[in-house]
Amino acid sequence: MIRSLVAGVGAYLPARVVDNDELATRLDTSDAWIRERTGITRRHIAAEDELTSDLAVEAARRALERAGLAPASVEAIVLATSTPDHTFPATATAVQRKLGAPTGIALDVQAVCAGFAYALAVADGFLRLGHARTALVIGAETFSRLLDWTDRSTAVLFGDGAGALVLRAERQAGTLADRGLLATKLSADGRHYGDLYVDGGPSATRTTGHLRMNGREVFRHAVARLSDSVLAVLAETGLSVADLDLLVPHQANLRIIEAVAKRLGLPPERTVVTVDRHANTSAASIPLALDVAASEGRLLPGRLVAVNALGGGFAWGASLLRW
Ligand code: ACO
Repeated sequence: MIRSLVAGVGAYLPARVVDNDELATRLDTSDAWIRERTGITRRHIAAEDELTSDLAVEAARRALERAGLAPASVEAIVLATSTPDHTFPATATAVQRKLGAPTGIALDVQAVCAGFAYALAVADGFLRLGHARTALVIGAETFSRLLDWTDRSTAVLFGDGAGALVLRAERQAGTLADRGLLATKLSADGRHYGDLYVDGGPSATRTTGHLRMNGREVFRHAVARLSDSVLAVLAETGLSVADLDLLVPHQANLRIIEAVAKRLGLPPERTVVTVDRHANTSAASIPLALDVAASEGRLLPGRLVAVNALGGGFAWGASLLRW
């Protein structure tokens, strides 16, 4: 059978770093409050002239370099973002042009913080169905542009950044020892549309709007849904939490990450945490965390890795990969 193998991972963070103390000069907040409630100490913020596509292209270039591939070999670009350069066309087409990738598939996937899990599944489908042999799956966001910088309850939580994976279609035996994407479980529950949303949009208000969130409700659902989705992908393959080498969760909040690990019975050293340095970068957080894990030597070939995410919608999901 055909499976999607990870051939390379890359990431990009804007140069400007804003720590909690700097935010406290503009908002009625403190480093202690932000650290204690979220685990966040700092975040990267894109420069005025830096677009989501610019962040995405940098991450993609680095991932292709690590894979030893040229942009010419990219046949599909699936970009997860809720902060596109423009309402249309897809930011993935801007990435294709800036990267110098050839004509091929290019589209955006919008599932907010769960976007990377959804994009991975979309790209995996293209590869397994034979529509492409090499795909870039990118999560890239400039959430700083969506924030209400006068609202301390949301402004402190997010950052900008991008991460990318190169996936290659490879014929495998079809066993659990195979490398590549082994299972995916995706869900959404639109009854929570109003718990985490942007109060603008081309159809509703003809403006871009700002992020609004019912933080308590997000927290309550996140822990249960994130751990259940990991259990679901493991169950689909007949594997268990004990088989899992690494969980690379969406990086929203340290308390959510720790609560999920506890609920799964996963020791802290088998979970990747980057929210302290990156804050919540929405669809970019998982590939950014994968890049950190790779650079720390934690993603060795053959390791069993789960990723999971939840965001606005609510939309959520998990995937299981043999690295
Ligand atoms: N600094 C200081 N005080 C603050 C801040 C801040 N930045 N933000 C809120 N407060 C105050 C509130 O005004 C409130 O004050 P009051 O009691 O005088 O009214 C008090 O702190 C408590 O506010 P709560 O919102 O109840 O605080 P809570 O303990 O729920 O923590 C938080 C808020 C961190 C947002 C939490 O609800 C949470 O982590 N939710 C998950 C949300 C999340 O991670 N969203 C990311 C997007 S979704 C995703 O990616 C999964």
